[in-house]
This record gives sequence, C-alpha cells and structure tokens, in this order.
Amino acid sequence: MKLLTDLLTAIFETAFLNCGYDKTLGKVVVSGRPDLCQFQCNGAFTCAKLYRKSPLSIADDVSALIKPDGMISKIEVMAPGFINITINDGFLLHYAEQIFHDKYKGIPQAEAPETIVLDYGNPNVAKPLHVGHLRSAIIGEALKRIIISTGRKAIGDVHLGDWGLPMGLVLAELEERYADRVPPITADLLNELYPLASKRSRSDEAFLEKARTITAELQKGSIKYMDTWRKMVSVSVRDIRKTFDRLHVSFDYWYGESDSSKYVPQLLQILSEKNLLVPSEGAQVVDVSCESDKAPVPPAIVIKSNGSEGYVTTDIATILQRQQDFKPDRIWYVVDFRQNLHFTQVFRTAQKADLIPASTELTHLCFGTVNGKDGKPFKTRDGGIMQLSELLDTVVNCSYEKLRNTDDIDMNFKKETAEKIGIAAIKFGDLINHYSKDCVFDIDKFMASEGKTGVYLLYTVARINSILKRIDSFDLTAPQSYGIYSQSERELLLKLALSGNAFINAYNEKSPNIICENAYQIAVAFSKFYHENHIMSESDGQKKASWLALCIYTKDMLQKHLDTLAIDTVELM
Ligand code: ARG
Repeated sequence: MKLLTDLLTAIFETAFLNCGYDKTLGKVVVSGRPDLCQFQCNGAFTCAKLYRKSPLSIADDVSALIKPDGMISKIEVMAPGFINITINDGFLLHYAEQIFHDKYKGIPQAEAPETIVLDYGNPNVAKPLHVGHLRSAIIGEALKRIIISTGRKAIGDVHLGDWGLPMGLVLAELEERYADRVPPITADLLNELYPLASKRSRSDEAFLEKARTITAELQKGSIKYMDTWRKMVSVSVRDIRKTFDRLHVSFDYWYGESDSSKYVPQLLQILSEKNLLVPSEGAQVVDVSCESDKAPVPPAIVIKSNGSEGYVTTDIATILQRQQDFKPDRIWYVVDFRQNLHFTQVFRTAQKADLIPASTELTHLCFGTVNGKDGKPFKTRDGGIMQLSELLDTVVNCSYEKLRNTDDIDMNFKKETAEKIGIAAIKFGDLINHYSKDCVFDIDKFMASEGKTGVYLLYTVARINSILKRIDSFDLTAPQSYGIYSQSERELLLKLALSGNAFINAYNEKSPNIICENAYQIAVAFSKFYHENHIMSESDGQKKASWLALCIYTKDMLQKHLDTLAIDTVELM
C-alpha cells in the first residue's frame, strides 16, 4: 500500500508540473496544525525563491488545478502561501479498512529489499548479564522488527563475548582451583569466578600475565583449554538464553567473537597485501588516523605483542565473515557509547582494506547508560552491579503486588499477567526515549497507568478486548455502511491511517521511540473517542457498527506496534 502522504504528493506533484514548476515541490506532509487541516503542502515557498514569484500566487495557481475528488474534500490557500488539505471521510474510512486487511498493515514495502545485519545483545560468556545488556537487547530486537516491517531482511547476531581476556582470567582461576581435576562448571560457579579473577588481576601481575598467556593459547586452539572453554560457553549460553527469552529477544545467529578466528589469517593477508599492517612495539597495527580528527584516533592493534587477537581483531574479522556469508548492505551495532572509539578503529580498518564495498553502511548506534533516579549508573542497594534477571524480577514483583488485591483471579493467570505487564513496563520505559539518551530506571514511572508507559498501552488493548467481549457477534464485512460521526473518530482514524509513516520514519531514523510515540498517540486518540461516545448503549445500529469496527482497527494497529517493540499484550487487566 502507498502512504496517504505519498498519494497526495503524487497529485500535488502533477499540479506543480502542470503549472510549469519543478515537480518535487509538490511534497505533502502531515499537518503541523491539526486544528486547521489534516495535511499541508508548503512547496510554494521554495518555488517562490526558485521562480521569483509570490508564494501566494503560486499556491493559488497550483491549488486551482486540483479539484476536490474522491480523496480530497477541501483545499485552502492561506497567506503567505500555505496549501491546507483535508481528505474525505469516506476515503479515510476506506483507507483504514484497506490497512486492516493488508498483510503489512499499510507499511510500504521496500522495493529493493536490502539485507541489514544487526549486532546486538552482546552478552559475555562467564559473566552475568547486567542492565547495560538490557538496552542493547531490547533496542536491537525492536530495530530488527522495524527493519522486517518495512520489507527488508534483518539478520540478528548476538556476537557473544567469548574470546578475550575474561576467558583467560576464568581459565587461570579454574586451573588453580582444580589443578588436574575436571572443573565442575556451572552458571553459579562462573558467576562467582569472574569477579574474583578480574579483581585479582588488578593487583596480581603474575596472575594477569598467566591469564594473558592462557588467552593466547586458547586462541591458538590449545586442547588443554578448549574443552573447558566449550563447557563454559554452553553453560553460559543456556543461562543467557533464559533471560533473553523472557524479554522476547531472539537471534538468527549465536556467533561469538571466537567464530571470527578462522577469518584472521585471511584478514592478515589482505592487510599486508595492501601494506596496511605496520609493526609497532612487537605488535601489528593499522594506522587509522585521519587529518580531520579532532581527537587522536590510536592505531588498531590487530595482533598483540604476545600473538593474541584483541577485541578490535575479532570485530574486523567478523566484518569479513559477514561480508562472505551475508553480503549485507548495512551493519548496525547496538552498543553503548563508551565503545565509540573502538568502532571508529574497526570501521576505518574495514573501509581502508576494502573488506566491504564502499556503499556498505557501518553504523554504531551508541546508546546511553541505564541510570538510577539520581542520574548515576544503576546499582543494587548495596552498590553492586544490578544483574539483569534481578532487575526483571524487581519490576515483575512490583507488578504482581499491584494485581494481588484484584478479585479472585486464578493465581497462575495473575503471575503470567504480572510478568507480561512488568516486562512491557521496562521495555516501553526504555524504548520511549531516543536510544542515544541515558535511560532513567524509575519503576514508579515505568509502572504508571497513565502517560507514556507500557502499562497504559496494555491497558488500552485490554479495554478494547473487554468492549469486544461484551458483543455477542459482530460482522466486520459491511464497511460500506460505516460512517464517521464525530471529530474524535476522525482524529483516531487519521492516526491509524498515518501509522505507516511512523514505521518508515522509525526505519529511516533507526529510532524505535517513534513507534512508541505513535502507539501512545493512538491510545490517547482512542481514549478520547471512547469517552466521547457511548459505544455499548448506542441504539443506532450503523453508528454502533462503525464504532466497533474502529475499536477492532485500533486494537489491530496497536498490536502491530507492540509486536514490533516485542511487547506482549494481556487479554484483561
Ligand atoms: N560483549 C561486548 C561487551 O559486553 C560488546 C560487544 C559489542 N559488539 C561488537 N561487535 N563488538 O562490552
């Protein structure tokens, strides 16, 4: 389906062209003044500069060529040259009905479907997931679904941290504890070991050196460490999956940094053929500085002096792997802002070495930290790093407490509902902000039943469910008899009809918050419509049928938004 704005633009482009002007001036946008009109064309202003005429006379000439028809009901020229446009109620209804039946819910599908690799989630083996991973996982999952909703192909890769020094630290600690015995690897043991080993490495130089050597040996494939490492990975992944499942976050590939290892020899060959590899203090580096750099960008260390691969190496080699396996048009990394310099080094090396075509987009979507209400990074009560599962439990418990006093609903149902509401509250609470901003973790705000919250949206869907439940039977097949009886319906229908624009903008701007905002706007428009009209007691059959259809369209469109944000709805609340 085409967007309403595109349908109108086509009409205005023809009119500009027929008046002898450049057709691109005919762009129609959603009105910034909904009190005056639904759409606007402001092309007369640029046209006036280009053709040295008054904008008002251009607007008059152009609009004189457009006659109200099946689609447009009113065109008004306003000084100094605005063209205000309103569409027919019948057309609006028909368009909303088409969206309802459209497989893609009115979202135009990309004509040349691109492939986009999304690198997100990014947990580390042997380390528990913490709140930072929450943002990467939920922003990444929403972006993946936004990409798919516009007809493009998304490939999600979790890119596990399974190959660096943390592996060496844990293996060194295990070696000391279990000497020649096979270590009994469990998630709890790993959770206990890593913080210990990491702390120790800061004061015990010999231990750190040992961990470095073990890391290098592991990367060379030493049998001595491989078995234990594999066990560590599988135990960790099992644990990580549980939390991601809870968040409805899933991946097409569970590759890790280690999977890039087999591409390293090829990478080194390419880099040396292109004379990009320079020896530096025993290491092999690539100079990635640019004259225009405001702050110095240090060289990318591809091979460390002890022969091991670093974080930069695995990321560059992974680009080689992605190019060979997927030939992506774009690769987006959903990683926090602290890694900005790292990605500058990685992207520049990949581009200098032509590992990808020049047209391939590499973007680091750097998100902010999760802070407490005090603006400082979110911690547990005793000041430690809050683990992700603990954080989810905290919110879900709060949601359960709120439900506890409701009448005697089945206990299991209550638990299930509390889980869905709690997770929705967290996800929406994060996604409603632009990803680049820090997110303030505020349970009370997230759980509020009014305002831009997941709870308000679930509540709106549940309210529609309860209306529809009270209807014995309803036939949706008589749209020709539907009408619009009030301004609040018109506004709601228009919001629904313009949702395709929100999805396209969310894709173009890589911003799930646009979907959140639009869902909220729909919910607010629905609430106004619901309060102004008494659906259940309405005696006029046609009116009631039109309103019920509107309830169904609204629910369907809200559902599309929430699915895209990977938020589950609840039947009743
Ligand atoms: N695992 C890393 C961390 O927790 C983030 C990885 C980000 N992705 C990437 N391709 N480097 O810091």
